[in-house]
Amino acid sequence: MSQAITAAPEITLGRTDYGLILQQVSFEYAGVRILEDVHLAIPAGQFVCLLGPSGCGKTTLLRLIAGLETPAAGAITSHGESVTGPSLERGVVFQDYSLFPWMSLRENVSLAIAKARPAMTQAERQIQAEEYLQLVGLQDAWRKYPGELSGGMQQRGAIARTLALGSPVLLMDEPFGALDPVNRVKLQDLLLAIWSGSERKKTVVFVTHDVEEAIYLGDRIIMLGAAPGRIIDDITVDFPRPRARHALLDSREFQALRGRVAAKFHEDLIRRLEAETAIHGVAEGI
Ligand SMILES: Nc1ncnc2c1ncn2[C@@H]1O[C@H](COP(=O)(O)OP(=O)(O)OP(=O)(O)O)[C@@H](O)[C@H]1O
Ligand SMILES: [Mg+2]
Repeated sequence: MSQAITAAPEITLGRTDYGLILQQVSFEYAGVRILEDVHLAIPAGQFVCLLGPSGCGKTTLLRLIAGLETPAAGAITSHGESVTGPSLERGVVFQDYSLFPWMSLRENVSLAIAKARPAMTQAERQIQAEEYLQLVGLQDAWRKYPGELSGGMQQRGAIARTLALGSPVLLMDEPFGALDPVNRVKLQDLLLAIWSGSERKKTVVFVTHDVEEAIYLGDRIIMLGAAPGRIIDDITVDFPRPRARHALLDSREFQALRGRVAAKFHEDLIRRLEAETAIHGVAEGI
């Protein structure tokens, strides 16, 4: 059910049938290369999952796409427009689910609605904010402040806030990482329903550590290898939708794909360990 795309695609910047284009993007923090030559074209409406070991640069890549960082080399476009800074076109759910602590949940979501739809009255915004909170199961907590909520509740609040922006591009950095298994499954299915139910499907880049989650959600899995992060595999996940969770997870095709992803991680780890051993060997005169 899956197939590798090995050749880097010919990418023409500015094409609007691509939701996102990253052309040979590299990035450094203080002279240290974090991302190397990331070359990726994401068709509008595609659901892409980004997998990779801790520290390989997944959050950094999302921040670049969001326009919060500038590439050291290469270029990024979103729906044909060059990315030069943050935009309402690209909604982000951050890894640390940063809600404004001085605002109630409803105020946090209302603020996003005010940004996206300034013509709405405050009363309309509040009603809509409550609807978004209901989507993520927080309808009874709308008065609460982030400090009064569990990590998982804050994460759901941050998801509601980003969904309320209505952005055509959704960038999600381990958005379900702090959720218990029941809420995780619920939110995965909610996200899929929102994605497939919108008139114009959103382009999604979803970072996760969880291979099963990536396969269940994604049309495609981009695997980043360890430092400096670069694409080590690009896998099409063509299981039909809507996906029946249990049947899919039990299927031989699913297991085979999971095995392939795990093997790729293993291969990358071995390559890294060998490289480190070679460096230490040289340093120790072996
Ligand atoms: N503000 C910063 N200044 C300097 N280095 C940074 C900064 N932010 C991240 N880094 C470094 O960049 C690399 C990539 O970090 P990043 O947060 O993108 O990784 P990640 O893949 O998201 O990891 P995780 O899975 O743990 O969230 C790491 O080596 C990290 O130490
Ligand atoms: Mg991260």
